[in-house]
Order: sequence, then structure tokens, then C-alpha cells
Amino acid sequence: MELENASFLSKVLTPWALCLILLSSLSSSEAYDSLDPNGNITIKWDIMSWTPDGYVAVVTMYNYQQCRHIQPPGWQLSWTWAKKEVIWSMVGALATEQGDCSEFMGNVPHSCKQDPTVVDLLPGTPYNMQIANCCKAGVISTINQDPANAASSFQLSVGRAGNTKKTVKAPKNFILKTPGPGYTCGPAKLVESTKFVNGRRITEALMTWSLTCTYSQFLAYKTPSCCVSLSSFYNDTVVDCPTCSCGCQNSNMKHRNCVKGDSPLLRSILNGPGKYSYTPLVQCTSHMCPIRVHWHVMLNNKDYWRVKITITNLNYRMNYTQWNLAVQHPNFDNLATLVGLNYKSLMPYGAGINDTAMLWGVKNNDLLMTAGSYGNVQAELLFRKDSNTFTSEKGYEFPRRVYFNGDNCVMPPPDAYPWVPNEELL
Ligand SMILES: *[C@@H]1O[C@H](CO)[C@@H](O)[C@H](O)[C@H]1NC(C)=O
Ligand SMILES: *[C@@H]1O[C@H](CO)[C@@H](O)[C@H](O)[C@H]1NC(C)=O
Ligand SMILES: *[C@@H]1O[C@H](CO)[C@@H](O)[C@H](O)[C@H]1NC(C)=O
Ligand SMILES: *[C@@H]1O[C@H](CO)[C@@H](O)[C@H](O)[C@H]1NC(C)=O
Repeated sequence: MELENASFLSKVLTPWALCLILLSSLSSSEAYDSLDPNGNITIKWDIMSWTPDGYVAVVTMYNYQQCRHIQPPGWQLSWTWAKKEVIWSMVGALATEQGDCSEFMGNVPHSCKQDPTVVDLLPGTPYNMQIANCCKAGVISTINQDPANAASSFQLSVGRAGNTKKTVKAPKNFILKTPGPGYTCGPAKLVESTKFVNGRRITEALMTWSLTCTYSQFLAYKTPSCCVSLSSFYNDTVVDCPTCSCGCQNSNMKHRNCVKGDSPLLRSILNGPGKYSYTPLVQCTSHMCPIRVHWHVMLNNKDYWRVKITITNLNYRMNYTQWNLAVQHPNFDNLATLVGLNYKSLMPYGAGINDTAMLWGVKNNDLLMTAGSYGNVQAELLFRKDSNTFTSEKGYEFPRRVYFNGDNCVMPPPDAYPWVPNEELL
């Protein structure tokens, strides 16, 4: 698609301007996710029945991402109507604003906004206001962690829409927020109608529009959000996250961008007017990351080596629920035991290379609380040494890449890795 655009643009732009555009599109190449290149959220808009002035549709968001979920406070979906549609009623979700419905007499629509924003209902919603896959406060799991909760649905009755295949128009400009930015949604397209299997009978939607939304870490944060530190039993040196991994401390009081733990300033911010903000409020550190993943090599003997992973939350404004890590290390082909973790092998570089694992906390180890004394989780991995890949080369026991909730973590440079004294080599 980018190439098509480029050839079109070359007709209307000077070569120099074109060159600038190509360069800037290269620098935003972080939109490509090497861990999960096909990962996306697909939204299906299934028209289930016609009404006198429109239709009833079920809208479902399917999370087809390996490692990225939507956690509390949940998704917000908006769009712009192609005509002058209104929402008569909704089940399983609500439009956050009613808008101007003054031209309606008697029956007043649920929302008359030209660009409505819809949010999920909360768990415990009365049954008559629920549909399947609704009412999870906007939380959507990854397909790996909890496939039964990897979709979210709501139903809406649309008026002033036309009620034939020829007269209805797909909504435009879909925006998915979580509630921050990060996702970019394509246009809704007419696709083959969704089929629903109910026992031995298959029914289908009258018509279906489909669109996909993809995530970019760069759009979401501008700076990385996670870093890795390393240590080992054979060397006292702790290799900390690289300085300024996620930003630098600003010592200027006016533009201060971090707080010290347990300071009066922290308490006043957390209880102040910005109480419900979701922008990270991080503890002051040299790396300024909201998340630090520490990889400690605990043991290394003839047959096995053991790692303790500690994830520390340094963000005072976020409880991370259903967190996950993706870790790349050649020895994942010989993982022996896990403590506190679930595991799934990921093969992002095609079949055969079993070196990337998705790890997530078992029940009771799946909540990473806000920064402070409870703001960390721990787990252990035991690897059987694989004589084909294990080397005593410097740094072998350390991960090659680490991702937290799908976002790439900043690693220390390889030449800073703790060093193995010669006599420890096995
Ligand atoms: C979205 O993900 C699904 C499931 O992996 C895949 O079949 C589809 O091709 C993806 N769509 C895009 C546009 O990448
Ligand atoms: C995090 O969870 C704890 C315990 O459930 C709760 O008291 C606290 O308000 C939560 N903090 C945020 C920022 O959501
Ligand atoms: C990948 O390695 C794990 C052990 O770490 C093993 O259980 C799994 O079967 C391997 N998968 C493949 C496809 O080789
Ligand atoms: C520990 O590792 C550091 C960093 O690689 C190195 O400078 C130091 O000499 C090592 N110390 C010992 C006792 O091996």
C-alpha cells in the first residue's frame, strides 16, 4: 500500500519532498511488530435484522494479538456515521454521550451524536441488558492467555440508516482507544457474511462489514515503556537498565516528570485533581521506565541453569492485570520447569525456531500492583542445558529480547553483561 501511495505521490511532488516523506515513513517503522507481525484487532459489524428505519447489528471486536490485551479501564470505540444515523438503543454497551436529540418527539434515541463513543458495561449488568461477550468493563484478553475472553461484543439498533443492503452505509473513521492511543483502524469493508453455528444449524448475518486495527508502540508512548536489568550469582555487579531508557529525569521543578516514593508530593498528586489520569506517574530512577524486568541467573551447573525473573512496577497510576512477557533465548527449546508462570512457545520467525516464549503469571501471580512495596511479581525458570546451543560464551544466560505486554523492552548493551570468571565455566 505504501508503494502505491509513493508512486501516486511521485507525480505530484518534487523528488526532494518525496524523499523526505519516505525517510519519515522509515523512521516510524516501529509500527511493524516483529514479535507478532499479523497481530490485529478485527472488528465485525454484523447486521442481524432490518427495522422500519434501519437495522439491528452486533459489533464484535476479536483480539488476534499474541501478547497484547486491553486491560482496565478498557476499550473505547468511536466512529462517524456516514449519513444521519442515530442509535435507538444498545445492549451490552453504552454511548458515552446522548448528543442533541431535540428533533425527536416521544421516543428519544439513546444517542444522536454524529461521532458516538461506545464503552463496555460492567460485570454484574442485569441479564436483560447483556449479550454474549459483553460486560467485562472493556477488558479483552490475548488469544494465548484466555481465548474465551479474547472478544468483546455489543448490540445496537440503528435508525435513519436505510433498511436494505443497497441503502445502508458503513460507519467511517473508527477509533479504538484503550483508553490511550496506540491503535490505528482501517476502513470498514463489506465482507462475506459472518456465519454462526448453533448446534446443528448454521445461521448468518444479513450483511457484514469488517475492519482491522493495528497497534504501534511508537504511537502509544513515544518513548519505550520497559527496560531490562541483569545480574548473576557469579558476579556482584548488577547491570542496571541503560540510563534514560524511557526518558531522562528533569530536575527542573516546574517540568518535573517523576516523583520520589513516599513523598508528600506523590500523595498530593495521587489524591489531587489528576486522580483519574492514566498517563504514567513514575518513580524517579535513572532509566525512568514504568516497568523494569530483572533477570537474575541463580544457578548454573552441569545439567541445568536457573533464572529468577522479577518484574517491578514503577508507575504509581497503574495496576497491570493479566501481564505477560515474551522472551527470546535459544534455550527455550529446553525449558524444564516454571514456577509461578504459564508458558506458550511463540515462533515469530517461522516454524522450527523455538526460541521465543510467552510467559504470564499463574492465578494469584497475574496482578502487578502499582509502584510501592507490593509493586512487583517474581517467577522462576529452570532450563536443561542443550549441548547444541549452550555455550559458556559471555552473556549466554541472558535474554536476547524481552517484551512486556507486547512492548519491546530496552536491553543493556551486550558488552556490559556480567562477566563469568574463567573458573566458573562449566
Ligand atoms: C488479522 O488477524 C487475523 C488472525 O490472525 C488474520 O487472519 C488477518 O489476516 C489479520 N488481518 C490483517 C489485516 O492483518
Ligand atoms: C490498584 O489495585 C488496588 C487493589 O485492588 C486498588 O486499591 C487501587 O486503587 C488500584 N490502583 C489503581 C491506580 O487502579
Ligand atoms: C518448544 O520447546 C518446549 C520446551 O521448552 C517444548 O515443550 C515444545 O514442544 C517445543 N515446541 C516445538 C514446536 O518444538
Ligand atoms: C563482573 O562483571 C563486570 C561487568 O562485566 C566486570 O567488569 C567485573 O570484572 C566482573 N567481576 C568479577 C569478580 O568477575
